[in-house]
Amino acid sequence: MPKLINRFNFLFVILQLDIWICINFNCGKSILYYFICTLIKYYFRYHIKKCNSHKKLNQLNKSMKKKIISLNEFNQKKNRWKSKIFNSDKIRKLKKKLYIETDKLNYSYTHSWLGEPILQTPDDIVTQQEIIYKTKPEVIIETGVCWGGSILFYNMLSKIVPIKKIIGIDIFIPKTLKKRLKNKCKDKLILIEGDSTGEDLIKKLKKNLKKYKNFYIHLDSDHRHDHVLKELNLYSKFLNKNNYIVADDTIVNEIPNQTHRPRPWNKNDNPMTAVNKFIKNNKNFKIDYKLNYNHLISSSPGGYIYRKK
Ligand SMILES: C[S@@+](CC[C@H](N)C(=O)[O-])C[C@H]1O[C@@H](n2cnc3c(N)ncnc32)[C@H](O)[C@@H]1O
Repeated sequence: MPKLINRFNFLFVILQLDIWICINFNCGKSILYYFICTLIKYYFRYHIKKCNSHKKLNQLNKSMKKKIISLNEFNQKKNRWKSKIFNSDKIRKLKKKLYIETDKLNYSYTHSWLGEPILQTPDDIVTQQEIIYKTKPEVIIETGVCWGGSILFYNMLSKIVPIKKIIGIDIFIPKTLKKRLKNKCKDKLILIEGDSTGEDLIKKLKKNLKKYKNFYIHLDSDHRHDHVLKELNLYSKFLNKNNYIVADDTIVNEIPNQTHRPRPWNKNDNPMTAVNKFIKNNKNFKIDYKLNYNHLISSSPGGYIYRKK
């Protein structure tokens, strides 16, 4: 079709030339004839343009199609990109510096989820979502609720993942927060006030959660070595194969002591030292380092642990 139109275009140029000669040399032919030809010419020009843009669009579509790959292929590429990010010395140095500097300004305290502060970095939130979507836990337990943002995040995921119970444990949960969280989460949420390693509390949990198989556990309470190790030993008992338990704030092991925000944990006494001891004594569990590969700011490097068998 475009070829045909091009030929017409050529004919009309010739025809126009004829008419121009007629008019200029007083050949007596009417100006109307010239006008009609010009109109026809512009009509064809318009169609040529349209066809050319169609042709360009088709070419573009073809080249786009070439680039479309299967999800499997994309995921393989994604894993390669993640390893490259993780293995880059340049990025490692930059992200350590970035964590130290942003932590001084309380970066991990600056986000919120559905109106409540969530003391997590976006990198960790995305990774938690990936784990929960993949492992489909029936029960989520969080030790250390604080302002409740993470509870609301889990509750939101429960609209897609068949999470049946969300359990939040904290030594102190303000009444007003309890009310707000209960309103938003309805009957799925159980809030327990008390020490996460309390004997009675663990007994009750074991009794009430007997019928559930798949768990996701987030340890984010007291970050001292002894407390986290105790939590790991107690809560890992709930896990089945491929279930995850996350020890938050393992980053404390990698950064200078946080003098800007004095805490009882430090470089030698922190969640990572507890994780290392736990992994050494529990061969059924493994750190999923790959989950940290694409993190730029994470509070839990090496803190993502799963049960192997
Ligand atoms: C870092 S905040 C938790 C942040 C929350 N997980 C989030 O993602 O938004 C730590 C919380 O742990 C609580 N906590 C400290 N020691 C605890 C303990 N022994 N048992 C339970 N909760 C504890 C504190 O009261 C505080 O609210």
